[in-house]
Amino acid sequence: MKHISSRVSSLREIETRKHLDKISKTENVISLGIGEPDFDTPQNIKEAAKRALDEGWTHYTPNAGIPELREAIAEYYTKFYKIEISPENVIVTAGAYEAAYLTFQTLLDKGEIVMVPDPGFLSYWEYPKLAEARATRLSLREENGFQPDPDELLELVTKRTRMIVVNYPNNPTGAVLDEEVAKAIADIAQDYNIYILSDEPYEHFLYDGAKHVPMLKYAPDNTILANSFSKTFAMTGWRLGFTVAPEEIIRDMIKLHAYVIGNVASFVQVAGIAALREEASWKAVEEMRREYAERRNLVLEHLREIPYIKAFEPKGAFYIFANIKDTGMKSEEFAEWLLEKARVVVIPGTAFGSNGEGYIRISYATSKEKLAEAMERMQKSP
Ligand SMILES: Cc1ncc(COP(=O)(O)O)c(C=O)c1O
Repeated sequence: MKHISSRVSSLREIETRKHLDKISKTENVISLGIGEPDFDTPQNIKEAAKRALDEGWTHYTPNAGIPELREAIAEYYTKFYKIEISPENVIVTAGAYEAAYLTFQTLLDKGEIVMVPDPGFLSYWEYPKLAEARATRLSLREENGFQPDPDELLELVTKRTRMIVVNYPNNPTGAVLDEEVAKAIADIAQDYNIYILSDEPYEHFLYDGAKHVPMLKYAPDNTILANSFSKTFAMTGWRLGFTVAPEEIIRDMIKLHAYVIGNVASFVQVAGIAALREEASWKAVEEMRREYAERRNLVLEHLREIPYIKAFEPKGAFYIFANIKDTGMKSEEFAEWLLEKARVVVIPGTAFGSNGEGYIRISYATSKEKLAEAMERMQKSP
């Protein structure tokens, strides 16, 4: 007997995985498809986890997370952004994935509408299905620096609109949010009682002097911040993230989280405290950022030599969204062609929504040697 709920059977499989599967099927391939840091977790964080295990951190913790970690997260917002929050505004989650899941489940009712950026991280289209809510497209265009056009956003607002999803530094474009746009989004959200889910896991990877614009600063009562240790500290496998939101929302999120996860692994949470509070981890973050900056410049320089590719110059994250419209090929077709001719994997822009047509996403979360080799192969492909 097999009966799967319509909510779950309507979910799409994560697209990027499909493209990454091709790597294993083709010889001598360089993948620029990966969406996770290639660095190892900083040593001090690993040591903290080992110590925690030896000290007996092997039991349940409070559902919302260890109080000291919630405090460290609150401290962190004061230190970096001068935003005052209290530990009661924080819930520790299994990565930003769970943070987003809790947000959609806690705040959306059947038939309510959420505006989802296109191109964007495709999971945002799937979570609303689980809440029987509806997603509507918020177009991000290259000519606007891949930021929402506030006039267009306003036009999309209806009585049923409950949430806007914002993700900067952005996956897949590498765009960083403009302060003016942040203020405009905040004004609309406040005027029409709309929540903002702001997914900010790439906040520390910024280039050319760009600054992160945290949505919490502009609409603190409307913003649900999803964040993660995954990218910042190269901790994708640890599954550690958090949500910051008004206390009454966090209280309800804790109820749901208690049934789904219970609590994030106790020793992982202890390591999270070390990640946030120890200087060694921040030093490692800055080293990773510098390395990403060099790789980004390397790829951009090479791409400038390829006449049929026009790269959008990213100020954040570790992706380059490149316009391939001059080739006359569709994104999927181009990605297939590149794999065949150059044995280089990139993700077609359409894996991030229909507005991604005509683009490819190149990830530079891989070594300079591999990036240089991949660029040479691309330059040699006719
Ligand atoms: C924009 C965005 N949000 C959330 C996630 C999920 O990250 P985590 O590992 O924290 O669950 C990712 C991972 O690729 C991402 O790119």
